[in-house]
Amino acid sequence: MIIVGLKNKVAIVTGASQGIGKEIALHLAKNGAKVVVADITDKMLEVVNEIKSSGSQGLAVKCDITKMEEVENMVDNTIKKFSRIDILVNNAGIYPFKPFLEITEQDWDRVLNINLKGTFHCVKAVVSKMVSQKYGKIINISSMAGSTVGFPNQAHYSASKAGIVGLTKTLALELAPFGININAIAPGPIDPTGTKTTNNIEVMEQIRKIIPIGRMGQPEDVANLVLYLASDESSFITGQCIVIDGGFTVQ
Ligand SMILES: NC(=O)c1ccc[n+]([C@@H]2O[C@H](COP(=O)([O-])OP(=O)(O)OC[C@H]3O[C@@H](n4cnc5c(N)ncnc54)[C@H](O)[C@@H]3O)[C@@H](O)[C@H]2O)c1
Repeated sequence: MIIVGLKNKVAIVTGASQGIGKEIALHLAKNGAKVVVADITDKMLEVVNEIKSSGSQGLAVKCDITKMEEVENMVDNTIKKFSRIDILVNNAGIYPFKPFLEITEQDWDRVLNINLKGTFHCVKAVVSKMVSQKYGKIINISSMAGSTVGFPNQAHYSASKAGIVGLTKTLALELAPFGININAIAPGPIDPTGTKTTNNIEVMEQIRKIIPIGRMGQPEDVANLVLYLASDESSFITGQCIVIDGGFTVQ
């Protein structure tokens, strides 16, 4: 784990009950941040217990990011408990696979609502607090799919993740005068969470073989990059989408 100074910073991480979001929440907490774990599943309580046992403060808030009123309630709870919001990590997302010929309007709306509109809701609910503080770090989890390369059977997902990059770049320009940095991260295949949809050791092995660095990414790889972007060490970086994929997309 890289070490950055986040003592007394307040962070919200969406989709932090498991996988990459959980690792991000734990990394922020280990670096001194007070962390709000926002998710739709009760597993977030275990994550908050882990945060507390590491000596940091945590708060679990059940929140479906597709619902603006739930997001606003989550932000209100954060302010009540910790008085401010310094860091927002928009991590919650789904990644179903379906050929474009079979994707229905409902499939499209579900993916876009969670991945892109959910991100919009969270930024919208948090940004006025950051503007009044004249300080904020927003990190949006995109994907190499959509942001950097096309990905078969993921048209809806890729569109949502490309949308996140467009939102990030535009908001970087609008929010820079208020001391807010906003960046995106585009992970490649991350193990084990990223492969649970395939649940197939052979497929995992095939993916590993075509990653130049010779291994799958780990949730911790993404969490370390989040730490850097959440810290003041990266204060001259904004509006970027940083690919973290072991070289997968430069081949
Ligand atoms: N795993 C990968 O290989 C990979 C690669 C590129 C990008 N990503 C992105 O990283 C993020 C995390 O991926 P992961 O593999 O850890 O996924 P995951 O499925 O393990 O975890 C996602 C979390 O988001 C939560 N969530 C889903 N819908 C929600 C909603 N409406 N409101 C609040 N929370 C909700 C889930 O409950 C879950 O805890 C996603 O945005 C994903 O698109 C993952």
